[in-house]
Parts: sequence; C-alpha cells; structure tokens
Amino acid sequence: MSATSPAAVVVLAAGEGTRMKSKTPKVLHEISGRSLVGHVVAAARELEPQHLVVVVGHASEQVTAHLNAGDAPVRTAFQAEQNGTGHAVRMGLEELGGTVDGTVIVVCGDTPLLSGGTLGALAATHAADANAVTVLTAEVPDSTGYGRIVRDPATGAVTEIVEHKDATDEQRAIREINSGVFAFDGSLLADALGKVRTDNSQGEEYLTDVLSILREAGHRVGASVAGDHREILGINNRLQLAEARRLMNERLLERAMLAGVTIVDPASTLIDATVTYERDAVVHPGTQLLGSTHLGEDSEVGPNSRIEDTLVGAGARVDNSVTLSAEIGPGATVGPYAYLRPGTRLGVRSKAGTYVEMKNATIGEGTKVPHLSYVGDATIGDHTNIGAASVFVNYDGVAKHHTTIGSHCRTGSDNMFVAPVTVGDGVYTAAGSVITKDVPSGSLAVARGQQRNIEGWVARKRPGSAAAQAAQASSQGADGES
Ligand code: UD1
Ligand code: CA
Repeated sequence: MSATSPAAVVVLAAGEGTRMKSKTPKVLHEISGRSLVGHVVAAARELEPQHLVVVVGHASEQVTAHLNAGDAPVRTAFQAEQNGTGHAVRMGLEELGGTVDGTVIVVCGDTPLLSGGTLGALAATHAADANAVTVLTAEVPDSTGYGRIVRDPATGAVTEIVEHKDATDEQRAIREINSGVFAFDGSLLADALGKVRTDNSQGEEYLTDVLSILREAGHRVGASVAGDHREILGINNRLQLAEARRLMNERLLERAMLAGVTIVDPASTLIDATVTYERDAVVHPGTQLLGSTHLGEDSEVGPNSRIEDTLVGAGARVDNSVTLSAEIGPGATVGPYAYLRPGTRLGVRSKAGTYVEMKNATIGEGTKVPHLSYVGDATIGDHTNIGAASVFVNYDGVAKHHTTIGSHCRTGSDNMFVAPVTVGDGVYTAAGSVITKDVPSGSLAVARGQQRNIEGWVARKRPGSAAAQAAQASSQGADGES
C-alpha cells in the first residue's frame, strides 16, 4: 500500500450495454485477452486499495462467476435494478458497510484503456488538493453522449456535470467531458448520495450530481484533465470495442518493443495483456500472441501463427503454426504448418516439422518428427527420428492409449504405432510397419506383408492397355541391349 492508496475502489458494472446487441453482458466482452471489466479491475489493483468492489446487476450470476474465476476473486455488490450510477455507487458502499473512511475511487467497468498510472495520478491530485471530490475529465473531439463539465467562466472552477440528454445546446458545445472516474472523500460521498434526486430526463440517480451537491455545501471540488483522452474511451458498441482493442494492442506492442522485442509489423500483430517476453525475441507479421504465452530470448515466431498459452524457449523457432498450451524447448523448431495441441512438450533442439500435429506428447532432446505425422499421447526419448507420415494410433474408439519410444531410434516412414505399445532404445523399424507389439531395444522391427511380384500379370489381364504397351517396349529395349 502506497501513500496515496485509496480506501476503496468501486467499479460500476451493473448495466446491460444494450448497444452491444449481444447475449454477452457488455463488461464481459474481451479485448487483448481480458474482459473489459477485467482490465478495469487490473488497473484498480495497481492502486493497492484496501477494498475493491464491483457492482453487478444485469446478468449478475454470469459476471460474478467471471470475477471469481481467476486466482484472485473480486468482491461484488448487487444492484437489483439499474437506477443510475449514483444508485450503483450506493450499492457498492453498502457492501462496504455504508461508508468508508478515506478516498473512494469510482470507475466504470466499460473503460478498459484506463491505466493504473492515470488512476494513481487522480488519487494523488485529490489528496494534494484536499478535495471532497475530484473528477477525471478529458477534452474529446466528439463529446456526443458524454456528461459535460460546466465551469465557472470567471474562475474556471467546475460547477456541475450535465448529462448529454439534459444539456442545453450551449452546454452540448462543451468538449470537456466527464470520464466517469472520480475520487471522493468517502464519508462526504455517502452523505451526498443520500441527497441525489431523480428529477432528470432518465429518472435515474446520477453520480454526477454528487459534484454539485458537494460544491453547494461548500466543499472543495476539483478536476484533473487526462493527458490522453483515448484512455477514457467508454465502450458502448462494437465499433468502440474494436477501437479500444486497436489502442490497447498498440500500447502493449509498444511496451514489448521498448523491452527489446522486434515486432516486424505491428499492424498485423496481436498481443494479449498477459503475454511476457525476453529481449531479442522476434515476431513476424500476422502473428497472435495469446494468453500466458512467454517468448524466450532470441526466439522467433511467425509469420501467420497463433501462439496461445505457450512457452517458447530461448532461440526456438515457430513458423506458420498454431500452438496451444504447449512447451517448446530452447532451440526447438516448429513448422512450417505444425499444430501443437495441449500437453505437447518439445525438448531442447527438437523438431515438430511440416504438417505435424502433436497432442499430449513429450519429445526428447534433439528428437525430430519432421514430416506429415500425428503424435498423440506419446513419450519419445532423445535423439530419435520419426519417419515421415507416421501416426501414433492412440484411440480405439473408447479410450486413449499411450505410446513410448526410446532414445536413438530410427523409425521408418509410414509407420503406425498402435497404442499401447513400447519401443525400446536404439530400435529401427521398417518403412510401412504397423507396430502393434512391443519392440525390444536394439531390434529391427518389420511389420508388413512380404512383397510378391506376379510377372506378366499386365500383359495377361490388361492386354493392349497403355501399361501393357509400355511394359512390352521396356522389355524389348532390355532385349535389344542384351
Ligand atoms: C456516464 C456518466 C457520464 C460520463 C460517461 C462516461 C452518469 C450519470 N453519467 O454516462 O457523465 O460522461 O459515463 O463514460 O454517471 N451502471 C451501473 N448501474 C446503473 C447504471 C450504470 O452499474 O444503474 C454502470 C454501467 O454498467 C457502466 C457505468 O455505470 O459501466 C456507466 O453507465 P452508462 O449507462 O454507460 O453511463 P453513460 O450514459 O455512459
Ligand atoms: Ca458508458
């Protein structure tokens, strides 16, 4: 807890968000790997408040379940009817015992770009100026829909906030708007909320009225203008959702680049807020870095790859591939056109090559699966080579079974390993084998029909065909030479 840590942060997230035209509650829509409310909660947590409460209402069960899903559950307050932002804050304070001593920060759950830094600066200004309320404002190019900040023309002091729907034409021309983010003195807030009325165009309790109530009671009212108006973008529809995603992505890529990651084409690269990386990682165009993905030093990923919840080891290379919950060891190579599914663990300098799919498979150091293969439910030792077009036959229609292959093996092309089966160390298998029985270390396994040549079959069974003519020409040619 720092010197300016607020006593509480109240996040308003009870509204439905009808303009999203969605089955999903607005605050659960996602950008950059987190829900809208998840971004707001993450920013709020940076302030290390004593209490953090999210006011839920519309689809409250779904929103509450989401907030409790992570490893750090969030306290919620229930607002049964959405009677306005003032009413919502009242419900939040009730959850905290009705009033809170110290600073209370209020933020909306639909402003995902708001940073912890901006919230902290607001809290600091609020404390330094000893205000009863400090509102975060911004000058925006288009203030349609927002509450307008009305200032005294003589002193410049904020006198009130007027909602768009209640504003005069003159007030609508004001470009300074209410971000919806406030710092309050906790006890004055509780008292003023009791005085908020509903005589406005929407018949709601407006939180914004608290500002004029406090000012008229002789308390200090302040405003802090946000440096970047884009930070307070509130999401009401899918156009704004896309715009927020673009801005958030730009911010996250900037952070990665300043930390030493090369992003070859920022415009075609997506990165989640939860992705981590080390210096000199390189990301090629058309790549999505998602979830808990980590890029090791000197690793190189893309182009055109989806890398989700994947550990990419130092110096590893992933090319035109999809990887999900996989671990790629240092110096390993993946792709082009590989699909690593959950539970794939590639050892140091191993390889999952072209058109290779893996699932729940542990591949040892230096082991290679270079071409056209499916490796599911398997353990393969070190320095083994799996021939092209091999399939680990792991499913009998009822249950999945495991295949184990040892170290320093050379398995032939087009092998089927019918699980459960174990192949020892240093084993060779013949091309085209269907391995159904365990193979002892050091053996050559051959599991295919003997080849039989039926000579003259084409001339007898397909007389006069092009094949027969070709066969005859070649035997005459051979005769001529002899
Ligand atoms: C609000 C502000 C407006 C400001 C704008 C910034 C008020 C009266 N107006 O308007 O001055 O410019 O935000 O984006 O405060 N909510 C509840 N319960 C309710 C009503 C709303 O929890 O009963 C939540 C919503 O889920 C949302 C937030 O409060 O997260 C803001 O509500 P919204 O309806 O979007 O307010 P605006 O009309 O945008
Ligand atoms: Ca809004």
